[in-house]
Amino acid sequence: MAQEVRGVVAPGKNEPVRVETIVVPDPGPGEAVVQVQACGVCHTDLHYKQGGISDDYPFLLGHEAAGVVEAVGEGVTDVAPGDFVILNWRAVCGQCRACKRGRPWYCFDTHNARQKMTLGKGGAELEPALGIGAFAEKTLVAAGQCTKVDPAVSPAVAGLLGCGVMAGIGAAINTGQVTRGDSVAVIGCGGVGDAAVAGARLAGAAKIIAVDIDDRKLTTAESMGATHTVNSRDTDPVEAVRELTGGNGADVVIEAVGRPETYKQAFYARDLAGTVVLVGVPTPEMQLELPLLDVFGRGGALKSSWYGDCLPSRDFPMLVDLHLQGRLDLGAFVTETIALDEVEKAFERMHAGDVLRSVVVL
Ligand code: APR
Ligand code: ZN
Ligand code: ZN
Repeated sequence: MAQEVRGVVAPGKNEPVRVETIVVPDPGPGEAVVQVQACGVCHTDLHYKQGGISDDYPFLLGHEAAGVVEAVGEGVTDVAPGDFVILNWRAVCGQCRACKRGRPWYCFDTHNARQKMTLGKGGAELEPALGIGAFAEKTLVAAGQCTKVDPAVSPAVAGLLGCGVMAGIGAAINTGQVTRGDSVAVIGCGGVGDAAVAGARLAGAAKIIAVDIDDRKLTTAESMGATHTVNSRDTDPVEAVRELTGGNGADVVIEAVGRPETYKQAFYARDLAGTVVLVGVPTPEMQLELPLLDVFGRGGALKSSWYGDCLPSRDFPMLVDLHLQGRLDLGAFVTETIALDEVEKAFERMHAGDVLRSVVVL
């Protein structure tokens, strides 16, 4: 039977979010209902609220989540009730041209639940953020969006792998292919940039240079594994990174802000034939201008990293295991745990740069 639970809804453009009663249908074929235990507050949730993603209000926010599968629909074999899972927004289809070429982390046709949750009984259909909608006691997703991991991990920590932290770690280890001995610079050390720092350390980078305009962020980046820090408010970051790398620039530079000026810094702070990874998300009006001769002459690779080019079934359990072994401190990303009705306040703290992640614990 369909269930009524509480969930955080964005009712309209820039209106404050509200805790509402939402109706979660029983899982249909290929679907699962998940009892959410924790869900991180991400910039993308704020973008939904502000109308930066689409106008399909009302949105059910929340997408960095972990919980326990409560029920599955017909034909679901990969997960079962009782499984502890991280929710992902890349349930690969296995059929699209990317999947068929053996590159499922680029899947162009990822799955979401087919049925809709609604605002109250018979109310408006809810558009779940990134097809997840997990600021709710329970949510309905495609079964492929559930990735089983070791239940020994804390849900607040595990959920973060569902989006921002995976994006940052993956930008370093998947997209940037950082390896032992590399020099890496990370521009912008919020949750995503710090995760890139942690990913670079995990991959064995010898030098990890954290760049930010906020000294508080640089201190945190050091605790995540940065070997050097640069405050680009008072120092030219390109010069500084070159100086720290024998005059050459870093092998891999990860841009985790999403702005043209920081992208340019990343472009020039990398060594010849080095790699730039853009993981920060720009806005539609942003434009980039670069001398084409420099794009050609400096060689190397200019890459974008969506969701850290992750494959949830490969990367989530692996990163949870490394965390449980004490080799990757994912707990450091949880600045505070909050209740469902504190999401609006958490947006303000996020905006002020006061937190890496606020995590709703249910
Ligand atoms: N130069 C260097 N650092 C900057 C600059 C700049 N010009 N402008 C902002 N920053 C720093 C901020 O001080 C902050 O530490 O970038 C960091 C951004 O961090 P958060 O706001 O916490 O964002 P985060 O969650 O890390 O996401 C970063 O990735 O997923 C996207 O939408 C997200 O575009 C955003 C980016
Ligand atoms: Zn596919
Ligand atoms: Zn997110």
